Amino acid sequence: MSRILPGTAAQSGTVQPTGEFELTQKDFLRIAKILYEDSGIALPDSKMALVYSRLAKRLRALGMQSFRQYCEHVSGSEGVGERMTMLAALTTNVTHFFREMHHFDHLRTDLLPPLLEAAKRGGRVRIWSAGCSNGHEPYSIALTILGMMPDAANYDIRILASDIDPNVVAFGRAGIYDDAAVQPVPMELRRRWFQRSGNGHSVSEEMRTLVSFRELNLIGEWPMKNGFQAIFCRNVTIYFDEPTRQKIWSRFMKYLEPAGVLYIGHSERLTGSASDQLSLVGTTTYRRT
Ligand SMILES: C[S@@+](CC[C@H](N)C(=O)[O-])C[C@H]1O[C@@H](n2cnc3c(N)ncnc32)[C@H](O)[C@@H]1O
Repeated sequence: MSRILPGTAAQSGTVQPTGEFELTQKDFLRIAKILYEDSGIALPDSKMALVYSRLAKRLRALGMQSFRQYCEHVSGSEGVGERMTMLAALTTNVTHFFREMHHFDHLRTDLLPPLLEAAKRGGRVRIWSAGCSNGHEPYSIALTILGMMPDAANYDIRILASDIDPNVVAFGRAGIYDDAAVQPVPMELRRRWFQRSGNGHSVSEEMRTLVSFRELNLIGEWPMKNGFQAIFCRNVTIYFDEPTRQKIWSRFMKYLEPAGVLYIGHSERLTGSASDQLSLVGTTTYRRT
């Protein structure tokens, strides 16, 4: 049976027996450094047990004997693919439809009405779900739009759904959710905008037209040229350190159009230079001034 003494190795700086595989403080710090450089995610010592449990199966799959061997592999040129697998294994993808409902209420009652009217006259509407995980967030935005304007897919209205993890991007693009996942979707929207697909529920063509999925690293290059009237970046920056968080928020300012709205997660608070350009207009809801 796997066993680890979380934190002990990091505190003492010595090698500890950790069950099936040995995970030393040095190994942990190497993994944390790679993850930080590749994604901006900061792993405190308290995450040592998590690293062990999420990566032990990778060591088994690769037939490796120790985390040291694994670290060497992901640090070398032959380990590029595994480095991405490691990143995907260490990210947290928890999400659900209409998570933090007050943001969708704000979208429906404040932000969207004038934008959708403008779209009917030929205007352009762009919303970004940055760190979209398995697609529940961008599809909740699409459902909010379709609930107000059923023919929205015929207009210039699009949602960019991006994430660093290729697995969640592929999942979102496939757009099939099980019974439990669609529970939070109001029955009327569920009936109209999902179709039965085997044991699951497949998003409609209209939802697929509205939402485009892309792999995008928030600490890397952003290829988008145009701005957005709303950016959702919720429960993503909690995994970053403060300088990375502030850098991302200030980069958002280059993409958020005047009077555009930034929605952040319930445990996040806006700090740094971006906060000078935004005013709080609702719970974790900021409008560009
Ligand atoms: C907890 S989920 C949040 C999903 C959704 N925004 C929500 O609130 O329900 C965090 C997501 O951020 C993504 N993420 C972490 N670091 C990232 C980075 N550097 N660039 C883009 N996405 C990242 C993870 O892959 C994960 O899918």
